[in-house]
Amino acid sequence: MILITGATGNIGRELIPLLLKGGESIRILIRDEKKVAHLDPMIERSVGDWNEPKTLLPAMRDVDRIFLVTYETHQDINVIEAAKRTGVRQIVKLSTLEATAHKIQVGKWHYEREELICASGLDWTFLRPGMFMSNSIEWWAESIKGQGSVFFPGGKKGRVAPVDPRDIASVAACALTQPGHSGKTYELTGPELFTIGEMVHIIAKVLGKPIQYRDIPPIAAKLFMLRTGMDKPLVNALMEMLGSLRRDEGAIVTDTVQQVTGRVPGTFEAWCREHIDAFL
Ligand SMILES: NC(=O)c1ccc[n+]([C@@H]2O[C@H](COP(=O)([O-])OP(=O)(O)OC[C@H]3O[C@@H](n4cnc5c(N)ncnc54)[C@H](OP(=O)(O)O)[C@@H]3O)[C@@H](O)[C@H]2O)c1
Repeated sequence: MILITGATGNIGRELIPLLLKGGESIRILIRDEKKVAHLDPMIERSVGDWNEPKTLLPAMRDVDRIFLVTYETHQDINVIEAAKRTGVRQIVKLSTLEATAHKIQVGKWHYEREELICASGLDWTFLRPGMFMSNSIEWWAESIKGQGSVFFPGGKKGRVAPVDPRDIASVAACALTQPGHSGKTYELTGPELFTIGEMVHIIAKVLGKPIQYRDIPPIAAKLFMLRTGMDKPLVNALMEMLGSLRRDEGAIVTDTVQQVTGRVPGTFEAWCREHIDAFL
């Protein structure tokens, strides 16, 4: 049995159909059952929270593998403790590409949590993806719809190779169901490097209408995030990540998706065409 955490999130929701197609028995850890009412009723549900250790033990009963999505170190500690007590064998953790150099805070946070899993004695596989293509919906769809613009402090030169969440889910499915992935760290990117302006241009091309990219000053983004009530350490970490993007330090392309899955990774333009409704 495989326990999927983050089952309503960008990667977990793509992983569910892949594992079902492969005939795996799965259970999802969810906080709100209403959010998964649309899913196949045969999928086992366990209501729980990474912050509440007592909810994790029943979620892990009869589970031997976990797909792990967490945000804070104490959550990983809770999961590892429960996993050891219930006989879980393997954790496939969704980490981040920044954990590779672990120079900036978001990378350090994930790296620290990877280290805890390494030390746990459980089998592990770490997935370190770069920027998800789906961020373009979360970050930009509203202002594209409302103002025909993208306001983002991404600079003019910094590049990323956005990765299709379905490719990350495919790698996770391989790691969870095939031998040979234990002890492996996979750096996952899309196939092409783009500046933020070029990503916006692709969305505009797919929509068939102009979209302005407005490279807002980082300080304006910082003040906006603080005003929305986000924690200061998180805001500072995100600002550091944006600085790294603006200095073009995230311009990395790997062929790991293809190496692991045997499939060519999806392009940003193809992903935009398939998700066009989200921008309309
Ligand atoms: N976005 C990127 O570009 C990017 C790049 C590299 C790495 N990452 C990493 O990817 C991870 C996020 O993955 P994602 O985008 O697939 O997730 P997501 O879309 O942000 O969704 C978060 C998931 O976690 C669940 N969740 C949140 N708090 C929880 C709690 N206390 N207990 C149990 N479940 C909880 C949410 O459930 P609810 O439905 O209940 O809210 C949801 O299913 C993060 O660790 C991030 O650092 C992201």
